[in-house]
Amino acid sequence: MRGKLIGGLSLALLLFFSLSSSAGTGKVHKYIGITKCKMCHQTAARGKQYQKWASGPHAKAYKTLATPEAKEVAKKAGVKGDPQKAAECLVCHVTAYNAPASQKAPTYKMEDGVTCEACHGPGSDYWSLKVMKGITAGTIDPASVGMTKPDEKTCVTCHNKKSPTYKPFDYKKYYAQIAHPRPKK
Ligand code: HEC
Ligand code: HEC
Ligand code: HEC
Ligand code: HEC
Repeated sequence: MRGKLIGGLSLALLLFFSLSSSAGTGKVHKYIGITKCKMCHQTAARGKQYQKWASGPHAKAYKTLATPEAKEVAKKAGVKGDPQKAAECLVCHVTAYNAPASQKAPTYKMEDGVTCEACHGPGSDYWSLKVMKGITAGTIDPASVGMTKPDEKTCVTCHNKKSPTYKPFDYKKYYAQIAHPRPKK
């Protein structure tokens, strides 16, 4: 059970990571944590993506694993010990759990839960204003700097039947709950 859970999942995540890392440039894009994204994405003019995330489900995904409910879920799933230390739970409850340590910058914190980078890709090479503006202007290919375009496929790497509390995933409905659009100009 344990082997199968981890096996299937790591295959999916491996695919995700190999797609989101470096193809072509030979450079490893690193996960940098929430602080940099927060710096720029908290103004009303930009769309307050940080606040939307911080008050939503993904910011508390790691904390959830400390609840009595999580302990109950773990017990039922046959997972021993503290869920906040169990790979079987962390794979979906934090960002890039299975990425190698070399792909995590010192500012990466597992405790941040499922962050921007879990969906948009590791940020070390795209967080600067120059690159951000280039991506939006269309002069920089987001993939070349590690930014992925999230869609339904991104969600179902976690929102799938391997989740012990799985609820049928409806992209439109779920996306509406976490949407963080730019304000219309
Ligand atoms: C130095 C400021 C700055 C930082 C730091 C920053 N961004 Fe941005 N980001 C911008 C600006 C400016 C834009 C252009 C759009 C706009 O003005 O809202 C943008 C656009 C984006 C877009 C839309 C890209 C597109 O397709 O047009 C995404 C996604 C994004 N940022 C994610 C992130 C994530 C994730 C992080 C952290 C890893 C981050 N940003 C950090 C300033 C920043
Ligand atoms: C890295 C894994 C991961 C990815 C990728 C992910 N999620 Fe989640 N999502 C979670 C976890 C874990 C929770 C539960 C968090 C909690 O309750 O602590 C969650 C909860 C949610 C919830 C709240 C559901 C409820 O029952 O209240 C919504 C809505 C949601 N996600 C939407 C999305 C959408 C839309 C995407 C894709 C654009 C996505 N998620 C991608 C892990 C992920
Ligand atoms: C395949 C990804 C995945 C794995 C593995 C996973 N979770 Fe989750 N977890 C989710 C998602 C997605 C949600 C949001 C609700 C849903 O759709 O299941 C969630 C929600 C939860 C919730 C909130 C309850 C709820 O109904 O919203 C708890 C508690 C939880 N998980 C505990 C655990 C524990 C404990 C483990 C390890 C034994 C674990 N999860 C493993 C993806 C996962
Ligand atoms: C659960 C997955 C998920 C998380 C977490 C997430 N995003 Fe997104 N983000 C998306 C999706 C999906 C879109 C829509 C992409 C599209 O429209 O093609 C999006 C769009 C955006 C856009 C473009 C909005 C527009 O109107 O063009 C920006 C900017 C952005 N995200 C920034 C962030 C920042 C900053 C964070 C963290 C504070 C974050 N996102 C967290 C999935 C996520």
